[in-house]
Amino acid sequence: MKNIRASFGTRMGAIAASVGSAVGLGNIWRFPYQAGENGGGAYILVYLLCVVLLGIPVIMSEFIIGRSTHKNIQGALRQLSPGSKIHYFAYFCVLGAIVICSFYSVVCGWVIEYLYQAATGALAGHGSEDYGRFFADFVGSPVRCVLWTILFLCINFAVMTLGVRRGVEGVSRVMMPLLFVILIVFCANSLMLPGSHKGLDFLFSPNFKALGWEGVVDAMGQAFMSLSLGVAALVTFSSYFSDDTPLMKDAVTIASLDSLVALLAGVLIFPAVFSFGFEPTAGPKLVFEVLPAVFYQMPGGYWWAILFFLLLFFASLTSTISLSEIPITFLTEEFKMSRGLATLCCAVVVIAIATLCALSFNVLSDVTVAGMNIFSLLDFVGSNVFMLLGGLFTAIYVGWFLRKKVIKDQLAVKGRTSSLTYNYVLVCLRYVAPVAILIILYYYVTA
Ligand code: PFF
Repeated sequence: MKNIRASFGTRMGAIAASVGSAVGLGNIWRFPYQAGENGGGAYILVYLLCVVLLGIPVIMSEFIIGRSTHKNIQGALRQLSPGSKIHYFAYFCVLGAIVICSFYSVVCGWVIEYLYQAATGALAGHGSEDYGRFFADFVGSPVRCVLWTILFLCINFAVMTLGVRRGVEGVSRVMMPLLFVILIVFCANSLMLPGSHKGLDFLFSPNFKALGWEGVVDAMGQAFMSLSLGVAALVTFSSYFSDDTPLMKDAVTIASLDSLVALLAGVLIFPAVFSFGFEPTAGPKLVFEVLPAVFYQMPGGYWWAILFFLLLFFASLTSTISLSEIPITFLTEEFKMSRGLATLCCAVVVIAIATLCALSFNVLSDVTVAGMNIFSLLDFVGSNVFMLLGGLFTAIYVGWFLRKKVIKDQLAVKGRTSSLTYNYVLVCLRYVAPVAILIILYYYVTA
């Protein structure tokens, strides 16, 4: 009997899952502090330009590979380039997804710890300077860090056992709308705080001097991270799309919603930070050390803290779901494993690596490579090596080597391919994206 391959049930569900992949810690944690440090509106402008010139075309390149074949990354490349060795790229993507999922889950574990502490009331009632110590105590505790990380991964892999339609799509269809509702309620509250305009000025007024070359490179890297590019997450998801999905329209929708969430996260955070007189350029600490202090100064702080960490939880779970789907689809199709067994294999590997990452803040803090602990090393390799090199490969492969007929057929809507869309995608994939990615890589290597 021929196996019937899974697919998303509806176009809305497919978009929700892809937006779920894109919207994650990158939007709510990384984007606001990077914008804060790199000249506000100037950074946002460059970021949006990167989304148009790099992000959407590379999303399209992944969509074309996945949807034209309805296969996992290895099967897809085998079908598109028979007889070539290009399908080995699949191992790169699977490894990249596992690496990213592992370090990412540690931060997701922090999110659950904060959610739990907020719900029990233990997060409240500290002086604003105490939150730094609260965070340091927590990451310094191996048991707490490891347990929360494993709990998060158990939830993640439990969802994965439910399959593409009930698990991936079902969870995204519930969590994504809720995420938007929470964000909007939060933003409305932030905007009503006294002095909120100072936060908006900080976020949106363009300061090109503060941007600099480094800010431009950060914006490019952030576009890659935020849109989940380079490790075949969107190849895998689009392999479950139906053949009449208008790919270009969906790519624009996904990129727009992702950018909107990043901007709304900034609107949520900075007016509140300014209104209560906190430091806006706290960098990565902003979410775990500054925001709790901010929330508990607001009326109803107990609920705001819970709501914020719930928001982060929804955003991060839908991202790790997409990362997990890459190896799971690969194992089920290439190694003919059942979905349950494939999920179990991935869970064991990811939990093992994530545990090492969680321990790298405490008992393994002395283990360093090139001055980085295990967590930072995997973060660096995942974000800078796997995502960027993967994106470079995909752009060059589709731009230069894939048959033009495949590209045209995938771009077609109701049998017609707009030449404007075709040229935009091709020029960006052939020239703009490779040059931009090489610049970022050069910068990271020489910095
Ligand atoms: N896009 C996610 C974020 O912004 O947090 C991270 C991510 C998800 C990266 C899925 C890569 C991926 F395949």
